[in-house]
Amino acid sequence: MIQDANDAPARSRQAPRVRPIDISGLRVGTLTLQETKRRLRQTLFALRESYPQIPADAKKLDTIVDRLANVALDAVSATDVSMAILFRRLQGLRINGMGQANRLWPQLFSLPLERGQAENSVSVATTSRADLSKFLRVLWSTHFAGTRGRLEWIIAAIAAWRPRSLRELHRRIERVEASFPDFDAFEKVYAPVFVFETPAATGPSEPASPDWTLLWQYEGASGYGGDYPADVKDFLGTFLCRVRDLDPRARILDIGTGSYAAILLAREVSTEFELIGIDIADIPAPPEVARIQSFKMSAESLGFPNEAFTAVMSVNGIEYADVDRAFPEMRRVMQPGARAALVLHRPDSLIVARARKFIEFLDSTLLMETLALSWLYLDGGSEAIERELVGQLLELKKRKVDKQFVRYFSRVMQGIPEAMQKLHSAPADAYALIQRFETDLRWTYERDRFLISHMSRIPTDRQDMLKWLGTYGFAVDAVQEVFLDSDHSVPPVGWAVQLRKPVATGRSQ
Ligand SMILES: C[S@@+](CC[C@H](N)C(=O)[O-])C[C@H]1O[C@@H](n2cnc3c(N)ncnc32)[C@H](O)[C@@H]1O
Repeated sequence: MIQDANDAPARSRQAPRVRPIDISGLRVGTLTLQETKRRLRQTLFALRESYPQIPADAKKLDTIVDRLANVALDAVSATDVSMAILFRRLQGLRINGMGQANRLWPQLFSLPLERGQAENSVSVATTSRADLSKFLRVLWSTHFAGTRGRLEWIIAAIAAWRPRSLRELHRRIERVEASFPDFDAFEKVYAPVFVFETPAATGPSEPASPDWTLLWQYEGASGYGGDYPADVKDFLGTFLCRVRDLDPRARILDIGTGSYAAILLAREVSTEFELIGIDIADIPAPPEVARIQSFKMSAESLGFPNEAFTAVMSVNGIEYADVDRAFPEMRRVMQPGARAALVLHRPDSLIVARARKFIEFLDSTLLMETLALSWLYLDGGSEAIERELVGQLLELKKRKVDKQFVRYFSRVMQGIPEAMQKLHSAPADAYALIQRFETDLRWTYERDRFLISHMSRIPTDRQDMLKWLGTYGFAVDAVQEVFLDSDHSVPPVGWAVQLRKPVATGRSQ
């Protein structure tokens, strides 16, 4: 990519779009040089309106056309013909007097993969790391010979991130190989090669919900680290005491119960409560405290009869579901007059701000790619990879890391050399170590992307919040902000709301 600061805005201003000339026929003789020049002349002429530097004079235009066509001909005549080489040559071509129009040259030609190169495709999401790596090595050595120096990094970037669209894949490659052809050129050549699990999104769509089971497999604690902040504890405690005063044997549902933190708090308030936790994830069995049941179930589809519960609670659980389905479900299983206590994140909450920073952190450190590179090393990698890896670790060490991410960072920084050392004595442990870091980092990344996007629907204004909850047919008893600690100069963790299902609403259940 051109690293020129003015490049991006100029590119988006460019109109009309250039339709590149497919010059693969030049090599095999199905396209003549003369015909190439004719098409080039036509293309350039059409671009004159946006690029007045392109001469109208036929002779002058022909001089430019000749130079461009010669670069194309040279590129296709080379034995190591590749789009990357052609792109670089055109990128480096400066024709006097052409000013801004010089930026057009890399867009004028395309060199699609030939049969045999394109007939194999690779599924980016599902192909094993070893096969992905083999495939990319063949593809790059035949077609992208010009970028071989960074091939290991390119493989690492794709293997680490398993991008979900061609655009994302290209963005990941660009981060490790800055002089890569731009997306348009890349797409023309490589679109048939990479297969994605879901069709590439055409517009912005919400990231998929993460696999929550991994949270409880690896972390064993929610984002609060096992113990709720005082605000949350007070809010839940007050709510539960009120429920107990009305009915000490109340039947209480906890939605998105995780490691039962809210349920255990309820047990402290009344030993007689009947406590039921549901979660979409495979969570640990409930602790051995009397009368706790747990079910694997989604908040959007609760497997309980209507009006089954005296009270409901959810601490940062229900808002991860599709609330348009989960709130009506919650209302359905509440008895008329039943109460609910919810702690909900919101788009401006501390947790979402932290998620944004984490995404920025991971996107800017090459930490994931470094882990993938260590895989390549463990998998019979060369001394060259080892050198890259050691060099990269030194680079990373120089980085200033936000204190909230030091934990991730130092674990990985210590873990990679540890894994490299273990390679001969305990290879399985070495792999497991790297795998663990990767899963952990990717999971957090996906959870955070989902969090940022998903929480955007929760109102940040109190009045809007009241109105929003009302639209689901709840009576709202209280809406307050809860904070992580006594420092209220930082954003809250979110809302704490108390709701009731009205006794006679006239609404259908
Ligand atoms: C941030 S954790 C909170 C866990 C627990 N409430 C606590 O306070 O520690 C979010 C929980 O919601 C669960 N969850 C996410 N989406 C869900 C859904 N659609 N239905 C039910 N549970 C869901 C997750 O599996 C996870 O256990």
